[in-house]
Amino acid sequence: CGIVGYIGNRDSQSILLEGLKKLEYRGYDSAGVAIYTENGLQLSKAKGRITELEHRLQNEPLTGSAGIGHTRWATHGKPSDENSHPHTDQDRTISVVHNGIIENHLQLKEELEALGYRFVSETDTEVLSHLIAHHYEGSLIQAVRHAIGRIRGAYAIAVLSEHEPDKLVAVRHASPLIIGVGHGENFIGSDIPAILEYTRDVYILNDGEMAVLTREGVDLMTLEGNFIATQLFHIDWDLLMAEKNGFDTFMLKEIHEQPRAYRDTMRGRIDEANQSVVLPGMHLTDEQARDVRHIQMVACGTAYHAALVGKTVIERLTRIPVEVDLASEYRYRMPVVPDHTLVIAVSQSGETADTLAAMKEAKERGARVMAITNVVGSSVAREAEDVLFTLAGPEIAVASTKAYTSQLIAFYLLALRMAEARGTIDKVMLVEMLALLERLPVQVEEMLQRLQPIEQLAHQITRHEHLFFIGRGLDYSVAMEASLKLKEISYIHSEAYAAGELKHGSLALIEEGTPVIALATDERLLEKTISNIKEVKARGAYVIGIALEGNMELAKTADHVIYVPHTHALLTPAVAVIPLQLLAYYTATLRGNDVDKPRNLAKSVTVE
Ligand code: G6P
Repeated sequence: CGIVGYIGNRDSQSILLEGLKKLEYRGYDSAGVAIYTENGLQLSKAKGRITELEHRLQNEPLTGSAGIGHTRWATHGKPSDENSHPHTDQDRTISVVHNGIIENHLQLKEELEALGYRFVSETDTEVLSHLIAHHYEGSLIQAVRHAIGRIRGAYAIAVLSEHEPDKLVAVRHASPLIIGVGHGENFIGSDIPAILEYTRDVYILNDGEMAVLTREGVDLMTLEGNFIATQLFHIDWDLLMAEKNGFDTFMLKEIHEQPRAYRDTMRGRIDEANQSVVLPGMHLTDEQARDVRHIQMVACGTAYHAALVGKTVIERLTRIPVEVDLASEYRYRMPVVPDHTLVIAVSQSGETADTLAAMKEAKERGARVMAITNVVGSSVAREAEDVLFTLAGPEIAVASTKAYTSQLIAFYLLALRMAEARGTIDKVMLVEMLALLERLPVQVEEMLQRLQPIEQLAHQITRHEHLFFIGRGLDYSVAMEASLKLKEISYIHSEAYAAGELKHGSLALIEEGTPVIALATDERLLEKTISNIKEVKARGAYVIGIALEGNMELAKTADHVIYVPHTHALLTPAVAVIPLQLLAYYTATLRGNDVDKPRNLAKSVTVE
């Protein structure tokens, strides 16, 4: 979910709507605003995309210069007008927007109902509006403080009350929240793009902190009411970077930004003079790197697939054993964390609740925690001892592309750095790998220019309802990501299989015409993969192969082959995934889907 808030002298309705549009990637099954107007506190909410709310507000505008807004990704209660935020108490004096989950809401609801409070929604958030109203005795700050004292869970909230319409109160606990500071006006946002049009000076709230905004200023305090002095954070990236730049969709733009993202992620991290990797800002010393005996990685979705590549690369180059866990599983499997374990959390947004929870679990079990993330100031970045930032720039499309490949680049740099520190790579190989790494952006640029025919190929897939991706080794990891990409945006059911495993069961699903996308870039395993391709061909599959340029073998078996440039075998995922991102993209477009905002998904999932 996403939160915005505004207090100033301008029309808040349009500022809130603009902010919500920037946050739509956090969820978009309903949206709403509460604004203090001449007639008191007024609400407008609508199920569906922000544009639904916008239409409603065009017909029935709310005029006022203080308000809060919300875009929702349903966790408790279906998407509907009633379940949309803001929520209010029954006298409509208090309005609340909330991101996160209130774990003890059922118990609180019973208690409040017994006191005569009537609930109109199925959400956990409504509990908060009644609680605040219940505790209101002339001070909104006190009432919010009391209410917060009663709830358990993860939340970021913003409150506007008719009793004290000249202030907004915001609290953060385990869900992101920032405060934008302007002149004669101040802002609340779940994320920086929501307010970047209006100010570049922000406070990033920490867990357990409260902000009280008036037109004139912002007070930051602990929940106990002690004032705190926090440094303003100045944002120097450009809103234009977050816009479409001439492409039809954010996803297509982000696919084409990959060469730039590779360069930015490598910049300043390869010491040309010494032919060595340097990771400024990392606290991990060479001695500590030598001391690591186990690595565990935790991540979700696409970041998990990047971690699978990271595992192979790190194991190959450093010989440290690596386990990779889905963050949502790690926490509950009572993980064994031996001494000298380094845990690496991977997250584009840096706000994924499952990943954060896994990091906390790892810390409690004594691991040193490192993060690979794309967002400076994010919760994941702040939770980690060491952070390796990917410099992909803001990623807006829900389906991740440039963030994934930038995570691969980060893993290459990290693996090489650790291998250097541990003496597990010789200089000749290091120099060769650095040169190949630095060639990747040009290779990807060239490849993107000749991949137009993939649009034609997508026609072969669109009418199917299920298909397979197969590969071995790193090709299998890339197959998993390619399959997820296709599912997310085209809604075609697909599965990624280790090529050698297909015959142990799933081969039964191959029928005449079933598309199988076979990755065969690993020359060591080529013969074996080709045998597996023959197995599916014999059952009537339509095979699209992915091979290295110059490889003549695959074309003899596959119906169609897409060629990717030669590089080091460990670096091949950073080129091999790109045609498959485009294949997913064009397939989804041909099916008429909203590529940037696939149904049921959210860019950043801040609930467990
Ligand atoms: C959501 C997104 C996925 C993403 C995953 C992890 O489910 O829809 O695209 O891979 O979260 O996100 P993170 O920000 O932690 O990388």
